[in-house]
Amino acid sequence: MSDATAVNYETSIPNNVGLSHDRRVLRALERWHPGYLDWWNQMGPDGFQDSLVYLRTAVDVGAKGWAKFDYVRMPDYRWGILLASPVEDRVIGFGQHRGEPAWQEVPGEYRAMLRRLCVIQGDTEPASVEQQRHLGKTAPSLYDMRNLFQVNVEEARHLWAMVYLLQKYFGRDGREDAEDLLLRRSGDPDRPRMLGAFNEETPDWLSFFMFTFFTDRDGKMQLESLARSGFDPLSRTTRFMLTEEAHHMFVGETGVARVIQRTCEAMRDAGIEDADDVEAVRALGVIDLPTIQKKANLHYSLSLDLFGSEISTNAANAYNAGLKGRYREERIEDDHRLEHDTYPVLSLVDGEAVSVDAPALTALNMRLRDDYARDAAAGIARWNRVIERTGIAFRVTLPSVAFNRAIGTFAPIEADPDGTIIPHETFKTRRHDWLPSSADGDFIASLMEQQTEPGAYAGWIAPPRSGIDNKPGDFEYVRLS
Ligand SMILES: [Fe+2]
Ligand SMILES: [Fe+2]
Repeated sequence: MSDATAVNYETSIPNNVGLSHDRRVLRALERWHPGYLDWWNQMGPDGFQDSLVYLRTAVDVGAKGWAKFDYVRMPDYRWGILLASPVEDRVIGFGQHRGEPAWQEVPGEYRAMLRRLCVIQGDTEPASVEQQRHLGKTAPSLYDMRNLFQVNVEEARHLWAMVYLLQKYFGRDGREDAEDLLLRRSGDPDRPRMLGAFNEETPDWLSFFMFTFFTDRDGKMQLESLARSGFDPLSRTTRFMLTEEAHHMFVGETGVARVIQRTCEAMRDAGIEDADDVEAVRALGVIDLPTIQKKANLHYSLSLDLFGSEISTNAANAYNAGLKGRYREERIEDDHRLEHDTYPVLSLVDGEAVSVDAPALTALNMRLRDDYARDAAAGIARWNRVIERTGIAFRVTLPSVAFNRAIGTFAPIEADPDGTIIPHETFKTRRHDWLPSSADGDFIASLMEQQTEPGAYAGWIAPPRSGIDNKPGDFEYVRLS
């Protein structure tokens, strides 16, 4: 463990940002801490606050060995302020300040824009904890329960990450923002979370896995573009958040893969070849593949909305200012200013979805969404290999970006999953061929029974291929109180 990246545990808040020499920010965080704990106790995992959970905690932000695993009661988890190591002589990589030294303080002219970026990112983190707070009670195994709680404490740490930036760099405004982040509630009609997908319910474990696959992946893309920020503290914070985010992607992708695997194996063992024979498959106590497809359609379309409108001057301004870059900006071969470039944007022309060239600067949301879609498609290809290996003739597909949208070009129209534009009436009648119905939800809910025997798994999901931290199959990941 090198000193430059090690985490200091001497203050009440673990950190590698020198909080012991920054009394003003330390005091602000200490004043925020009790309200945060109230929020966690009220809105964090319901019924498991006294359980001992085998969690990883960051003890170093270096490339190797940043995590230490141990049994922890979640309210005692060491939420901390962890920034990735500074890059020496870092320069801004895009926009009108390209080539200038990265900023260590907030540039006055961009204060409002930066503050807004921190608040929006910060708001999503506690929202997902709120959405997932009841899932422990129906966990299909202690392994899965532990993974859920790991995701929850890390999302909560991501809130800390944004609160630190707000309190350190945005004065009284930032302190007020930090308070407000504890006041909004997912799904609350009076004070909802800021973005749509974070006000939806996560009623069952298939939703949880889909959420971590699709919605956390939006988070990953946003963090990837903020990691390029010319505001260096934001870049360093998000770079470390991304290392945690990788586990969330893993939980989602392998979670759905294990559901698919169990379903296909049960079908094969029962001699059922027709994946569309929903009744026969459900009678086996597993989730039929068409329902899994419907869940994917829902979570994908909700997550696409998080990218905002295809054409956006806000996105152009944030890029121009050097605050928010593109996915893997440094690997792209162009001038990184985009003043004269174009980008193909899917648009509605005469009732049809066609690609139209738009100024690249205003099309940055569209570009990030395309990068996201490619990233998601790679995961889906891996799900399909699981199906293929069992010989079942079914493939999970991503629906068209025109399908089931509430934001952007396709919000006013309806399309089928192939992207053919259809009348609203047709969509209404066929809705539950493409999106989960309440009956589908009831069926999934009927399978959700908590499994607390170490090494045991609910019948609708296959065990994982290996344990967390190389633990054996019967490891007790959660000691219930
Ligand atoms: Fe997060
Ligand atoms: Fe996440």
